[in-house]
Amino acid sequence: FRTLDEAELAGKRALVRVDFNVPMEDGRVTDDTRLRAALPTIGKLRAGGAKVILLAHFDRPKGKRVPEMSLRPIVEPLARLLAAPVAFAEDGIGPVAESAVNAMAPCDVLLLENVRFHPGEETNDPEFAKALAANGDLYVNDAFSASHRAHASTEGVAHLLPAYAGEQMRLELTALDKALGHPERPVMGIVGGSKVSTKLDLLRNLVTRLDKLAIGGGMANTFLYAQGHDVGASYCEKDLADTAREIIRLAGQNNCKLFLPIDIVVAEKLVPGAAARVRGVGEVDEDERILDAGPETTERLCRALANSKTLIWNGPLGVFEVKPFDRATVETARCAAQLVKDGRLVAVAGGGDTVAALNAAGVTEDFTFVSTAGGAFLEWMEGKELPGVAALAR
Ligand code: 3PG
Repeated sequence: FRTLDEAELAGKRALVRVDFNVPMEDGRVTDDTRLRAALPTIGKLRAGGAKVILLAHFDRPKGKRVPEMSLRPIVEPLARLLAAPVAFAEDGIGPVAESAVNAMAPCDVLLLENVRFHPGEETNDPEFAKALAANGDLYVNDAFSASHRAHASTEGVAHLLPAYAGEQMRLELTALDKALGHPERPVMGIVGGSKVSTKLDLLRNLVTRLDKLAIGGGMANTFLYAQGHDVGASYCEKDLADTAREIIRLAGQNNCKLFLPIDIVVAEKLVPGAAARVRGVGEVDEDERILDAGPETTERLCRALANSKTLIWNGPLGVFEVKPFDRATVETARCAAQLVKDGRLVAVAGGGDTVAALNAAGVTEDFTFVSTAGGAFLEWMEGKELPGVAALAR
């Protein structure tokens, strides 16, 4: 793909797809990570004298104008981060967008309204893509985290204008290639979260590519159950026991060493400060729930990390939102962070709860790279081609 260093920018209208699908409460942005992630690209375009026209979606308005899903609340925090004014157009296409773009001077920044207010965005309607492209001389995709969607603003437009990868896109792709595409070995994965059912393809792909894989969180219960252990009142997808056994077999065939919990933390209730007990695997009482991996498991994971060169991490090892069930996640994350600081490990993490878990452990800054992507990170870990990335290929 082409990067911004190869683009002629002066006076050009740069149509930039960013991901501003940020957490919001009562019309206020509560986490601006994705806004900050867009700053390098916006900065580079402005430094080159381009007019920066931002395209983004927010939530899932299903092709209708839903006022609560407007991107307008993004204007003020973005302008503050940029220390520059940000204009807003109430529509992503048509005369409203056109006149806002016509009013721009080089280095100006304009945010267009939620592209998903038009049904043509998600259907990747060629006419809608054309209407978007009408406002640009070049297209920049800086939304890796939305690039698993073959939508008009992530895929369609890329075929209509000279297309470039933005800075955040470039960082994401470089980090992910380092972690799974061409990693330094041994490469270890940590996959957690509650449901095996949402991560089957991911696990199947990882066991064929990694040297070691640790499975934690609620999904580990299903694996323990599949191995014949009692899981008491724990969350467990019993109907997936055969699938779990198939993944264990597949790991064996591919020389991927699997790490399942060897001890666990249980409690009867999932409440902060609950009376938690450490148990051996299989020693769970009928009314107890497995809520975290135990200290021996954590130690074993830290040892395995110390003997690895690369880590790719998705999903917490326990119910990290509720103390003390955050312990395995926090301690393992800190081990990994220390190894990165010592120059012994490349650690890449991403997807959904993972960033929140690393934030809770206070190690986000220490990891080699933390992706801003949720679903896109998972699809990429599944080995799938992301349409928005594929469309940037020369
Ligand atoms: C995300 O938040 O993961 C992306 O912005 C994609 O959003 P979507 O799942 O609504 O397509």
